Amino acid sequence: MQVVEAKGFRLPTVGLGTWTLRGRDCVRLVEQAIRIGYRHIDSAQMYGNEREVGEGVRASGLRSEVVVTTKIEPSRLAPRDLVRSVEESLQRLALDAIDLLLIHWPNPRVPLADTLGAMLKLKREGLTRQIGVSNFTVALLEAANAITPELVCNQVECHPFLNQDKVMAACRRYGMAMVAYSPVARGNASGDAVLERIGRAHGKSAAQVSLRYLVQQGIVVIPRTSRVERLKENFDIFDFALSEAEMNEIRALARRNGRIVDWTWSPEWD
Ligand SMILES: NC(=O)c1ccc[n+]([C@@H]2O[C@H](COP(=O)([O-])OP(=O)(O)OC[C@H]3O[C@@H](n4cnc5c(N)ncnc54)[C@H](OP(=O)(O)O)[C@@H]3O)[C@@H](O)[C@H]2O)c1
Repeated sequence: MQVVEAKGFRLPTVGLGTWTLRGRDCVRLVEQAIRIGYRHIDSAQMYGNEREVGEGVRASGLRSEVVVTTKIEPSRLAPRDLVRSVEESLQRLALDAIDLLLIHWPNPRVPLADTLGAMLKLKREGLTRQIGVSNFTVALLEAANAITPELVCNQVECHPFLNQDKVMAACRRYGMAMVAYSPVARGNASGDAVLERIGRAHGKSAAQVSLRYLVQQGIVVIPRTSRVERLKENFDIFDFALSEAEMNEIRALARRNGRIVDWTWSPEWD
């Protein structure tokens, strides 16, 4: 199992994204993914599937080997509500503890020190093993790391069409893992002429090239799929390597409007 290590925490390099996965399909996909070798499952309070994610993890019989992530809704970051929301998450997941608890999105209306203080307390009490953030910019990472040195990751959008070098450098500076969401650009890696051509040269798909490009930089990826056959495809990225020339060619695909996930509540991106 390939992992990225951050502050002694070993985060499996390929995880399963579960946004939009619901009901029995979600349970089945999570269980199947773990059978195939996935040891990292990404959920969130906002996805409405923690119950099914927990059921799939338990059904696999390998709970102790799997890192289960969930993320706190941005509207529930004030300490008292945060604690309640995490207790609710744990009830839905029906697991002994959360492995990795993240702030899903920054919320400027709640002081960051209050939120992180509550998360640290939950960590000390054993409700979560590790804590981290998501959608944090360089400035927000600076603020968060001035409050606590215990954050192990920042989960952000990252794929060949979006350059995230600044955030990556900040993560490195603070010893945090960078976790790439939308790592196959919501399916748009497929069909890209450069990724397809490089994939053909290695006997791989364009999506696999997109994932390999990220993991080769030490980035964790959490591709989502609703199709069992793609679980294996997205996991099967450790038996080939991209050359420096190929890495540079993929790097050049980044464009100004490459960002996919942008909401009214997004922070001011780097
Ligand atoms: N922290 C945040 O704010 C945040 C935001 C967005 C996402 N996330 C997390 O990151 C995960 C992944 O991001 P995402 O869901 O936005 O995008 P993604 O994983 O880049 O793309 C998922 C889409 O790509 C397709 N796909 C997957 N594997 C493929 C392959 N090998 N070939 C071709 N198409 C493929 C899937 O279709 P099929 O289902 O048909 O395979 C699906 O429509 C999410 O599920 C969620 O857990 C977090």
